[in-house]
Amino acid sequence: MWDLGEAYESYVGRWSRPVAVEFLRFLDVPPGRTWLDVGCGTGALTETVLAHAEPASVTGVDPSSGFLELARQRVPGASFEVGDATDLGAREADVVISGLVLSFVPDASRAAAEFARVGKCVGSYVWDYTNGMQMMRLFWDAAIDVDPAAASHDEGPKFARVCLPGPLRSLWTDAGLRDVEVAGLVVPTVFRDFDDYWTPFLGRTGAAPAYLATLPDEQRDAVRDLLRSRLPAHGPIELTARAWAVRGSR
Ligand SMILES: C[S@@+](CC[C@H](N)C(=O)[O-])C[C@H]1O[C@@H](n2cnc3c(N)ncnc32)[C@H](O)[C@@H]1O
Repeated sequence: MWDLGEAYESYVGRWSRPVAVEFLRFLDVPPGRTWLDVGCGTGALTETVLAHAEPASVTGVDPSSGFLELARQRVPGASFEVGDATDLGAREADVVISGLVLSFVPDASRAAAEFARVGKCVGSYVWDYTNGMQMMRLFWDAAIDVDPAAASHDEGPKFARVCLPGPLRSLWTDAGLRDVEVAGLVVPTVFRDFDDYWTPFLGRTGAAPAYLATLPDEQRDAVRDLLRSRLPAHGPIELTARAWAVRGSR
């Protein structure tokens, strides 16, 4: 699901950057700290740390070597290593962060415990797939109308165990973190036109594009046409995306 870095960039990676900026504002970490970005992907959050947080160093960790290859090209000021959120080994950092990752880690409690073991300040954020991430909500609603079986792939109910304020807060407090705070981060996601919205769904990378690739041509076209009928026919398509963020300290 995660190997094609360029496809991920045009699908949802392009919205990772503005939300990363909001997250760092929420985290409010002083300069000179060491950072570990877990599930760094193509480096959107890593490069935002370099640009906005004056870090002593930043290391990105991700299981996908395809993503790390692109991250190394795009973010030369950081180091990148293959690794998994649920086993961070001997790593240490002042600040452990993970952006848009916890939904995809089957044992999110174990990941939170690892973050709390390795970092002093620990923060994370996840898209609100249930409602606030509009580009995906619109997609799944249309997909389910065309193919009711799409409901079992819908990221809303699937990720509700982590992508809402209550579950996020519990993950952090259960990991023994203190001064836990949760906040909603909302960013605009503006598409030039319908093609700009739709074409990245054909890239096979990410849950919705991976699901779409399994459909026969006529069902895929039906999802496209339904979405087209529900979105503005002219001018830009102005949506918003909400992520829920959590922070705490050891
Ligand atoms: C939605 S992307 C987010 C990437 C990046 N943090 C960003 O903000 O754009 C999710 C990332 O989580 C990574 N991931 C999935 N399972 C993971 C795990 N068990 N441990 C660490 N990262 C994981 C994927 O490889 C992918 O890079």
